[in-house]
Amino acid sequence: MTSHIMPTYGRLDVTFTRGEGAWLWDKHDKRYLDALSGIAVCSLGHAHPAIHTAISTQSQQLLHTSNLYNIPLQEQLATKLCQLSGMDNVFFGNSGAEANEAAIKIARLYGHQTNIANPAIIVMQQSFHGRTMATLSATGNPKVQDGFAPLLDGFIHVAYNDIPALKSALAEHNNIVAILVEPIQGEGGVNIPASDYLNKIRDLCDSHDLIMMLDEVQTGIARTGAWFAFQHNHIIPDVCTLAKALGNGVPIGACMAKGKASKLLTAGKHGSTYGGNPLACSAALAVLETIEAEQLCQQAETKGNAIHQAFSTQLKNNTHIKNIRNKGMMIGIELDMPCTELVGLALDAGLLINVTGASSIRLLPPLIINDAQIALLIETLSGLINSYTK
Ligand SMILES: Cc1ncc(COP(=O)(O)O)c(C=O)c1O
Repeated sequence: MTSHIMPTYGRLDVTFTRGEGAWLWDKHDKRYLDALSGIAVCSLGHAHPAIHTAISTQSQQLLHTSNLYNIPLQEQLATKLCQLSGMDNVFFGNSGAEANEAAIKIARLYGHQTNIANPAIIVMQQSFHGRTMATLSATGNPKVQDGFAPLLDGFIHVAYNDIPALKSALAEHNNIVAILVEPIQGEGGVNIPASDYLNKIRDLCDSHDLIMMLDEVQTGIARTGAWFAFQHNHIIPDVCTLAKALGNGVPIGACMAKGKASKLLTAGKHGSTYGGNPLACSAALAVLETIEAEQLCQQAETKGNAIHQAFSTQLKNNTHIKNIRNKGMMIGIELDMPCTELVGLALDAGLLINVTGASSIRLLPPLIINDAQIALLIETLSGLINSYTK
């Protein structure tokens, strides 16, 4: 049958029809353990009753009015996010790329306010910030940019987790207004930087009057064992972007700002028809309440460390394992050989995983995964890795 969908994705040939918790079922009723959560989105698992109740109740009342009018649920959600993060205000969009667009616009406004005519943002190699023209220009992956020249000006790429590289870029250019960085690179291969990396970036931003912008689209909302990854460093950025797990599958993105950065997107400077509509905000509020009620930040840390420990034990005799790393439930297993085929082998075995950068297995299990499911994940994947690398 001819497909009328643009062929932008290399999809695996499986069709899921329902889910519950960490399980998914396909159209033949085969069951799969989801260790990817729709790429860090469904942290509460599938068909969580709190989300179901929130969105079905809200859909009976009001889905959408536009941002021409007050939206009390949006106010509530912004207040809650600011309480949790220490930020001052929030702009809502519908995706991670849109959240980052807002951040990039804030940085440019800041530059013009400080009389820099051609403001530039430092971004990182191997980063991923989205697929719109601005966010793909910020992204540090030539594959994402290929074919889309001319890219947007005003991004300077430096090596990740490399403070001297940041310092030399700052010394070389006098038009830098902001640094945009992922606390852990997700698409880049679960790259976890030095534990004081963000603290050093905070110091550099303070001493150079730059806006510190964190892309927490993947790391945010409890994934790493804290509400926001920057909380591990006891700092607060000037801008922080969110999406993915914020709606547990209902599309929503958010750009949070603090201090001087929170005063720049004024009336007429930005907007989104759907952004922060009652449906999306009801889902996000339910997500935040559930994470609190079920103590999922703590669980992400405990379960993530247990998974790391178990894989380290199971795979200790496998000489092809280069590295096993995690921050909470962001888990990477790096092999010394390409291993993208493992994705299909795992699918056959009823397990959903992902491979980034050709040789790093990425696991982003739902935070509600239980002990028996964790044991199954470890047994199945260790077995697959051991037979694949034999
Ligand atoms: C760190 C990061 N930023 C931005 C994005 C883009 O988000 P979206 O696909 O919702 O536009 C992603 C998506 O993977 C991401 O991981």
